[in-house]
Amino acid sequence: MTPLPVFVLLSLVCFCISDDRLTTAKPLNARDKLVSSGGVFALGFFTPANSTVDTYIGIWYNKIPQPTYVWVANRDNPIKNGSPGKLVMSSNSDLVLSDSQGRTLWTTTNNFTSATTGTAAILFDSGNLVIQLPNGKHIWQSFDYPTDTALPDMVLPLSTNDGILRRLVAWKGPDDPGTSDYSMGGDSSSDLQVVIWNGTRPYWRRSAWDGSLVSGLYQSITGFILTEIIVDRGGELYMTFTVSQGSPSLRMMLDYKGTFKFLAWNSNSSSWEAFIEHPSPICERYAYCGPFGYCDAAETVPKCNCLSGFEPDGVNFSRGCRRKEDLKCGNNDIFSTLRGMKTPDKFLYVRNRSFDQCTEECKRNCSCSAYAYANLNNGSGAADQSRCLIWLGGLVDMAKFRDGGGGEDLYLRLASSTVDKEINVLKIILPIVASLLILASICLVWICKSRVMPVSVR
Ligand SMILES: *[C@@H]1O[C@H](CO)[C@@H](O)[C@H](O)[C@H]1NC(C)=O
Ligand SMILES: *[C@@H]1O[C@H](CO)[C@@H](O)[C@H](O)[C@H]1NC(C)=O
Ligand SMILES: *[C@@H]1O[C@H](CO)[C@@H](O)[C@H](O)[C@H]1NC(C)=O
Ligand SMILES: *[C@@H]1O[C@H](CO)[C@@H](O)[C@H](O)[C@H]1NC(C)=O
Ligand SMILES: *[C@@H]1O[C@H](CO)[C@@H](O)[C@H](O)[C@H]1NC(C)=O
Ligand SMILES: *[C@@H]1O[C@H](CO)[C@@H](O)[C@H](O)[C@H]1NC(C)=O
Ligand SMILES: *[C@@H]1O[C@H](CO)[C@@H](O)[C@H](O)[C@H]1NC(C)=O
Ligand SMILES: *[C@@H]1O[C@H](CO)[C@@H](O)[C@H](O)[C@H]1NC(C)=O
Repeated sequence: MTPLPVFVLLSLVCFCISDDRLTTAKPLNARDKLVSSGGVFALGFFTPANSTVDTYIGIWYNKIPQPTYVWVANRDNPIKNGSPGKLVMSSNSDLVLSDSQGRTLWTTTNNFTSATTGTAAILFDSGNLVIQLPNGKHIWQSFDYPTDTALPDMVLPLSTNDGILRRLVAWKGPDDPGTSDYSMGGDSSSDLQVVIWNGTRPYWRRSAWDGSLVSGLYQSITGFILTEIIVDRGGELYMTFTVSQGSPSLRMMLDYKGTFKFLAWNSNSSSWEAFIEHPSPICERYAYCGPFGYCDAAETVPKCNCLSGFEPDGVNFSRGCRRKEDLKCGNNDIFSTLRGMKTPDKFLYVRNRSFDQCTEECKRNCSCSAYAYANLNNGSGAADQSRCLIWLGGLVDMAKFRDGGGGEDLYLRLASSTVDKEINVLKIILPIVASLLILASICLVWICKSRVMPVSVR
């Protein structure tokens, strides 16, 4: 006897126990799973908690006890009635999922006509499933076809640069991975901002990109650092995030109610903890405060307010705010600088302008109600690094951030008389306040005396 058969047998055993890849020779059957080389993620068949009939192919955290699916292949086409399915690597380098009757439920479309042996679908520790040719070339990856979750280092383009719209699309319900109406991704009308959509209507919006290299940096009590960024690669914007070494498992997702969340796994409590959620319950929903109204996060309890020079149009903010003083147009208008603002939606992106040219762009057109300017030089690889935004007509979906919470300067057009009046009001109010204060201090002295005196007499 030679030791060879034993060696072959052993290698076969190992091959079956932990395998991170699928090849033409080895399909994935109902009870099999792939496990990434470091054991972080697994891929296989699953049935959502409260469903006994529908089976899906998905990727989940291999070491986290609570089932958490970060990607689902056949989200709208489950394997029915618990029938066993099969995932194979076809001879033309596509992954094909079929049910027991041989019906194709899901497939990749790489359009490789020639047969290639040695192609493998590999599950990486990043959570990415990649189809790799024998020469090492990657021809497909699950990160390009997200479900409702983004993992660290996954990049989501804000524009549809290659004709494929890449958005996170929420599950229909807690146990239903099907595509719902809620999605999150770039706003194709400008490519400068990220929006959560409810169907075709915006539900929450992040302000237009201002060139910041880091749009959010979070350091929790557990010490991990998460950097949420928008990167610019030659004029295309991408959203991505990175985490520091040794941080717990982190994911960004859009839940079935349309809420965007950043979650971290807490191994002590054995649960996912959300540390960022949008929209927040108070006034953060899209255009909640109406035209010319804004969600004031600088208040202890955030609430709707009107921009300066405006007053509520009605009893509440359902119709927003109206000008106290109509614009006269011409040289009688001035621009008031509002600091720390989330810029409004529905802007016109005027290319290749200096700050002064941007100001002029707004000034010369009576219907221009505001403008904002940023220089993208820190983050942009594009030739034109100016970002002049102007607004014609109403201003919707604004917010004021807390001090140091970001935001930009928004230059708002007002009738000069509005400002004069406000200054005049101040001129009248200030002396009154001052005299009241003097009176109050006199009274205080008097009250103290009258309170203290009797005691000292006794
Ligand atoms: C499944 O259903 C039970 C009872 O209706 C419920 O308590 C549980 O939270 C559900 N599980 C999930 C994951 O939604
Ligand atoms: C493959 O071909 C189909 C049909 O022509 C097309 O819709 C699809 O986009 C192609 N896929 C890729 C990855 O090029
Ligand atoms: C989303 O849109 C649907 C239909 O228009 C509506 O019924 C639902 O209330 C909206 N959801 C939210 C959270 O506003
Ligand atoms: C761009 O870089 C400069 C100098 O490093 C810095 O002062 C400025 O805050 C940066 N701007 C943005 C928008 O990040
Ligand atoms: C878990 O518990 C340990 C020990 O009590 C503590 O040091 C650690 O910060 C906790 N981690 C989290 C994520 O709460
Ligand atoms: C605001 O006022 C209008 C008209 O009075 C009313 O129909 C609407 O329900 C109110 N909305 C809120 C949120 O109170
Ligand atoms: C102002 O902008 C509006 C909307 O784009 C446009 O129709 C109008 O011609 C502009 N007016 C001037 C004076 O540029
Ligand atoms: C920007 O405008 C200037 C003139 O104001 C022009 O010389 C330049 O070519 C323009 N650049 C781009 C990238 O359009």
